[in-house]
Amino acid sequence: MATETSIKNNTPRFAPDEVDVVFVLGGPGAGKGTQSENLVRDYGFTHLSAGDLLRAEQVREGSQYGDLIRNYIKEGKIVPMEITVALLSNAMSDTLAKRRSGVDSDTKKPAKPRFLIDGFPRKLDQAVFFEETVAPSKFTLFLSCPEDVLEARLLKRGETSGRDDDNIESIKKRFRTFIDTSMPVVDEFRKQGKVVAIEAVGTKEDVYARIREGIEAKGINPL
Ligand code: C5P
Ligand code: MG
Repeated sequence: MATETSIKNNTPRFAPDEVDVVFVLGGPGAGKGTQSENLVRDYGFTHLSAGDLLRAEQVREGSQYGDLIRNYIKEGKIVPMEITVALLSNAMSDTLAKRRSGVDSDTKKPAKPRFLIDGFPRKLDQAVFFEETVAPSKFTLFLSCPEDVLEARLLKRGETSGRDDDNIESIKKRFRTFIDTSMPVVDEFRKQGKVVAIEAVGTKEDVYARIREGIEAKGINPL
């Protein structure tokens, strides 16, 4: 039974009029990180990559989650959401605190803070939990790309990335997880009319041009 108290407890930490949150999803190697950099430059987003935050936590001195995260990443599995959501929520809060204190005040920023949450939510429970407790999303930018293209990109990246999971065994597992666990998130947001789907094949420039058109149609304008 939904009591008044439980409804209040579900009030997100950040209100929709306070921040614009855009999720970025796509298979491994779809170009989420690359295109996020473009969006930071032209639209003043703060880019938070769930995978990068997890990799940083994995090596952080004193973290109790290092081994757990390492295992999940190697197996291409989704780390329990409490860890990932806490990392994201704290990173958002740090960004807003910095902004209020005027650090970086020379960098051009939109009037309303914008966050690109990259590689998240990878599972339906994360999506629901984040939107209820942290902030509702404005929409999800979905980069769609066939597996053979993704595989070629990841193997190429693996030559220099130093990542434990850019090898063929981990890549196959990550594809499986993406199809079985992450695509349902995209499907759910699509039902809600909250997906901007982009064909992420071709040159980086072509893909970015499509992205610009898609997000501007959703009311995100350049600085
Ligand atoms: O997005 P990226 O490819 O950097 O993610 C690497 C790995 O981090 C994923 O395969 C998964 O094991 C973990 N991850 C996760 N939950 C997320 C994002 C990443 O468990 N939301
Ligand atoms: Mg990435």
